[in-house]
Amino acid sequence: MKTIDVNLNNPYKILIDFGLLNRTGELIKPIINGSKVVIVSDETVWNLYGKALSESLDGIKHQVYILPSGEETKSIKYFEALCEYFAEIGLIRTDLVISFGGGVVGDLAGFASASYMRGVPFIQIPTTLLAQVDSSVGGKTAINLKHGKNLLGAFWQPMLVITDVSLLDSLESREFQAGMAEVIKYGAIESKELFDSLLKYEDKNELMKNIVKIIYNCCDIKRKIVEDDELDLGVRMKLNFGHTFGHAIERAGDYKQYTHGEAVALGMIIASKIGEKLGITAHGCSDKLIEVISRHKLPVNADLDYKELIKYIVKDKKKTQSGINLILLNEIGKSLIHTIDADVLLGLVERGI
Ligand code: GLY
Repeated sequence: MKTIDVNLNNPYKILIDFGLLNRTGELIKPIINGSKVVIVSDETVWNLYGKALSESLDGIKHQVYILPSGEETKSIKYFEALCEYFAEIGLIRTDLVISFGGGVVGDLAGFASASYMRGVPFIQIPTTLLAQVDSSVGGKTAINLKHGKNLLGAFWQPMLVITDVSLLDSLESREFQAGMAEVIKYGAIESKELFDSLLKYEDKNELMKNIVKIIYNCCDIKRKIVEDDELDLGVRMKLNFGHTFGHAIERAGDYKQYTHGEAVALGMIIASKIGEKLGITAHGCSDKLIEVISRHKLPVNADLDYKELIKYIVKDKKKTQSGINLILLNEIGKSLIHTIDADVLLGLVERGI
């Protein structure tokens, strides 16, 4: 088992290995403080793995709250319903919430844990690659508003992250690939070694043999960044490489045309081409990105209306008063935050990238 210690005000561990779900009871016993344990999951995950999780709790009394699967669940409606459920069963601040699912469940259960009684301890058991390398780590919790994604949220760190990579076996290919976009992102912004290694794997079987190491590397990069900038005021913004355009692409496709990972993959290519045009990114970086991205079966081009995308970007919370914060690469493995005026950006992309 690989372990990462996240050293924040309330330190916690990320545990990564095959077969950890069956050891959940043993792993959480030392941190259970109160009497109640509530598992929050969704229909898909619970149908597949609910029995295994319940059995592994080995006598620890628990209640289960099942949400519908899908992004629509990350809403005020389900947030309210979950908090009302916490109140109904008499959850108190020394009890424990276990989030068992992908990013939607983790973000919603995390935000409900952050908000209910001003904070209840929670544990993350992420079940998708995307959640295992990104959303379960670092304490960002949120729900969506009609005006945009993740507009209502809080920083609320988990007490423990249990990452069982065996759970990835049941992930659909497209969802697995979406997680790979975030893996590629970590390599691009912080680790040439990780980035280059992603060209080595011939197929998913090969990759799965190395998945513990890959997830460890991603989470360790994120750990360092979050320890430096927990509240996302500086260096943590680098984790948004590919996301400025990515979020706009997702939104332009009404969240149906592209998965988050597909949109981020396209966004990383756009950002590196912009960086090359500005003379900030070393020539050839976008070609390297395209090579890795296509190797992992993610899209490398799309018919995009840049004017519309920049309209969304300007509305997005990533814009500051001085302009849009774009994350660019100096080269593969090195990144920076570059603030750019929206009109300058539009001019650049309209002249063709
Ligand atoms: N997913 C980006 C971050 O946690 O900051």
